[in-house]
Amino acid sequence: MRIQIHIRTSLALFAFLLALLVAAPSGRADIVKGPILQDLRPGGVTIIWEQDNATAGTVTVDGQDYDSAVNHTLHEVVITGLEPDQLYSYTVTGDATPDEGSFRTSPADPLAPFAFVVYGDNRSYHENHVLVVDALLTAEPFAFLVQTGDMISSGEIADDWQFFFDIEYPLLKLVPLYPTVGNHEVHEGYIPGFYTDYFAPPSEESDTEAYYSYVYGNSAFLHLDGHVNVEPVLFGGFEDFDQTQHAWIIETLSRYAADPKIQHIFVATHMPPYSSKPGRTGSHAVRLLHPIFAQYGVDAVVAGHDHYLEYGVSEEGVRYFIMGGGGAPLYDNKYEDDPGYKPPEAMPWLDDGHTVLFARSVLGYTRIEIENGQVDVEIFDETNTSLHTVSWNTGDISPGPDGGVVDAGVSPQTDAAIPDPPPDPSNENGCGCRSSNAGGSATGVFELSLLALLALFWWRRRRRATAA
Ligand SMILES: [Fe+2]
Repeated sequence: MRIQIHIRTSLALFAFLLALLVAAPSGRADIVKGPILQDLRPGGVTIIWEQDNATAGTVTVDGQDYDSAVNHTLHEVVITGLEPDQLYSYTVTGDATPDEGSFRTSPADPLAPFAFVVYGDNRSYHENHVLVVDALLTAEPFAFLVQTGDMISSGEIADDWQFFFDIEYPLLKLVPLYPTVGNHEVHEGYIPGFYTDYFAPPSEESDTEAYYSYVYGNSAFLHLDGHVNVEPVLFGGFEDFDQTQHAWIIETLSRYAADPKIQHIFVATHMPPYSSKPGRTGSHAVRLLHPIFAQYGVDAVVAGHDHYLEYGVSEEGVRYFIMGGGGAPLYDNKYEDDPGYKPPEAMPWLDDGHTVLFARSVLGYTRIEIENGQVDVEIFDETNTSLHTVSWNTGDISPGPDGGVVDAGVSPQTDAAIPDPPPDPSNENGCGCRSSNAGGSATGVFELSLLALLALFWWRRRRRATAA
């Protein structure tokens, strides 16, 4: 009798387990990266996520399903047909464990005010990276993130990207990130596939995700690639943008400058034009473009690479912001250490004429608000404490009769647009110091090397003559 009961119990348990197996959905998957918002447009957005198991996927927005037909671990779904400047909730479903988020489509009205954030150089220093992301999550709302590169330590290592997206998860499911290629995204001269897998910046007209441009409201944004699509400059050890990218930069700036709906232009690049870290030189390629940026009315260059927060202006009147306070170990900044810093008088060629107006070696980011011709910039640390503000106005415009604008278009930099060099003495963070050896130090090294070679040549000839 006891044996019969045992057999019945075992059969019942077996049947129960079988029923569970039959009832369970096949190929269930968990989302391991994302949802990641990309390429915000007036009519939609792109949503990317990665699963631990290959299944089909679906995004539901406003009651409509957008299917990712392939059974794959990586999904990229393009959402279209939405209204501009509207807040939408979405759910990622399909065979994946559901996840939710929201986004606001970009405005069709070029006069709609908005804000964006610039940050970078998280570089797999997770504890600091978390602090900066937490600050952004509690900051005033903003439309999107301009990421200046070096998100991870090694672009070819999957775990680095996993950490990055784990930390950024609560942020990137709500606001799109526009990436910039940094030297740490690059491995042996190419961009490993993780970058193009997890990001989908608008690449239709540049034909590459390494550099690209987009428009939000009345502002245009160019993200440059200073690390792969480059070529060496003879004599000097520099790298310049290659001919294809250089031609694209000129054509794109020219097109935006002529567009009546574009009032501001921002250029994102990983390496800044100047460096205040002792021993660094800044980007020769970016400095070379300053006259062109001034000609086409670029409002500001935003960059990272150097791990501090700095704001300054080139002698051509081009503003630059270095926002490398995203988490990586902070660097000394000679202007913060010595606000009166000047290049040695014996080496006047090191003076490239740029002016540093703010420098602070802390974690943080910059928030930029745009309203018509007005630009208000505020630099924050990782506790959301305001460190510095900068404003300028390129000239307000009026709405046109057809919903367009009257007399828009960017203006070349003028003296009036260039910030006054003297800082506010009451601002303890201000740093109105002139010049640097950053921009010209590589040139100085080259010239010194040439002089040394000539001296050596002269000395050897003289020695030979003496010996003879
Ligand atoms: Fe870097």
